[in-house]
Amino acid sequence: MQGFLARFRDAVRFLETSEDLVVVSHYDADGLTSGAIASTILDRMGKEHEVVPVKKLDESTVKDVANKGSAFWFVDLGSGQLDVIQEHVGSDYLICDHHETVSGIDAAGVHLNAHQLGWDGSSEISGAGMTYLVGKTVSDKNIDLSAIAVVGAVGDMQDSTGALVGKNREIVRDGQSSGYLGVFRDLRLFGRYTRPLIQFLSYSSDPVIPGLTGNDSGCARFLSDIGIPVKKGDKWLSYMDLPSDDRKRLVSGLYVYALSNGVDEGTIKTMFGEVYELVKESPDSYTRDAKDFATILNACGRHGEMEVGIQVAKGDRGEYYDRAVNILQKHKRTIHDAIRWALSNDIDSFDSMYVLDGRGKIEDSIIGIVAGMLYNAGAVPRDKPIIALANDEDGNIKISGRANWALVKKGIHLGNAMKELASEFGGAGGGHNIAAGATVSKDKKDEFLERLSKKLGEQIS
Ligand code: C5P
Ligand code: C5P
Ligand code: ZN
Repeated sequence: MQGFLARFRDAVRFLETSEDLVVVSHYDADGLTSGAIASTILDRMGKEHEVVPVKKLDESTVKDVANKGSAFWFVDLGSGQLDVIQEHVGSDYLICDHHETVSGIDAAGVHLNAHQLGWDGSSEISGAGMTYLVGKTVSDKNIDLSAIAVVGAVGDMQDSTGALVGKNREIVRDGQSSGYLGVFRDLRLFGRYTRPLIQFLSYSSDPVIPGLTGNDSGCARFLSDIGIPVKKGDKWLSYMDLPSDDRKRLVSGLYVYALSNGVDEGTIKTMFGEVYELVKESPDSYTRDAKDFATILNACGRHGEMEVGIQVAKGDRGEYYDRAVNILQKHKRTIHDAIRWALSNDIDSFDSMYVLDGRGKIEDSIIGIVAGMLYNAGAVPRDKPIIALANDEDGNIKISGRANWALVKKGIHLGNAMKELASEFGGAGGGHNIAAGATVSKDKKDEFLERLSKKLGEQIS
């Protein structure tokens, strides 16, 4: 195999020699940042192109996309669909992906996959990171895009151990040296700048703090006990609105509270760690903190407003940004309702997994997020993976799985399980060790779940 520099140069040559390009990206935060980075790289090269974010890459999407241009740049997806891609677009493609690949297929085009380059695609680099590295090979001037690549990695929760590691680390350093990214040690909760203090604490579910998570009045009491104001005049204060002494008191108060309420010290420590800020963005915006930025993009993608997300990720802070803020409010309500529904319904326990059946109640585009949140909120025990079901718009069933690092250490690999089973069942499936998904036809649901549980049991034994 060629060295990785040579492969990145192949990618650049592909872009330089291609015309009528189509960028195909996934529709979540990492996908939209990947699409935005690719599009900015092409703008700067003076290359006409179109960006097409998609919900999933199956045969019919590949066919549609193939009609839109003559050369194709797949970002944050593609590695799992090499066969279909080659059937419909031949060798005129570049893939920048971090998902598991289909084994046994030789790439006819340029295929840059994290795993094949020796990087762990679930924790060390995202789709946006892979795309950014191509940009950096095109020109050092693209180094400013490192900050958006960090948003992609955070969107895929690659900082879940407390800091970005591996190849992501290099990208963080590019962000710092180019003056676009600030790295601080702080509370790693969503909404440091944007959520009112009470919701800042009560909505955060990783880790679950008994008495605070999901408990607004508990949070209000806690804040008042340690003497932290939640309002100034009419304005609800955010964490970053507080003077630094108050922030310090809040952090140590939270530490003590969590410890005395049965959260173990190792878990508490994961609440503190690195936070990533796009330091040129306005402090009260959703694009300042990488976690908030990822959330607003996720909201756009999952509600079918991909173009809005792409424009915001490319830098629009006017019309598209305002639209994104509205979509975010809708997204929050949808998630909130879905979680409330899930909490009041039973979760089935299979031998080697829990199953949340959200069919007809939760949309397929957010089922994965909901499964992850329930899981991280401790609403579902963490000794087995959680598998959630939703109906999709084609009359099939969308399956989303989430695990945790302890299970992954024991051998759980949801991506492999989904990929193997989906191909056996004639559906699409794949992902990462810790998070994966699949689509199966309705009549095969029960058999699929039985087989999945068996497979997960085998992985761990
Ligand atoms: O398609 P993609 O790779 O972008 O998505 C990865 C998914 O894995 C995201 O939905 C992310 O929330 C999930 N994930 C997770 N826990 C982790 C890492 C990733 O739920 N620790
Ligand atoms: O849709 P969800 O958020 O559950 O997806 C989890 C992970 O599984 C994502 O990385 C997604 O790209 C991947 N996935 C996949 N093939 C599918 C469904 C999901 O690779 N058919
Ligand atoms: Zn991704």
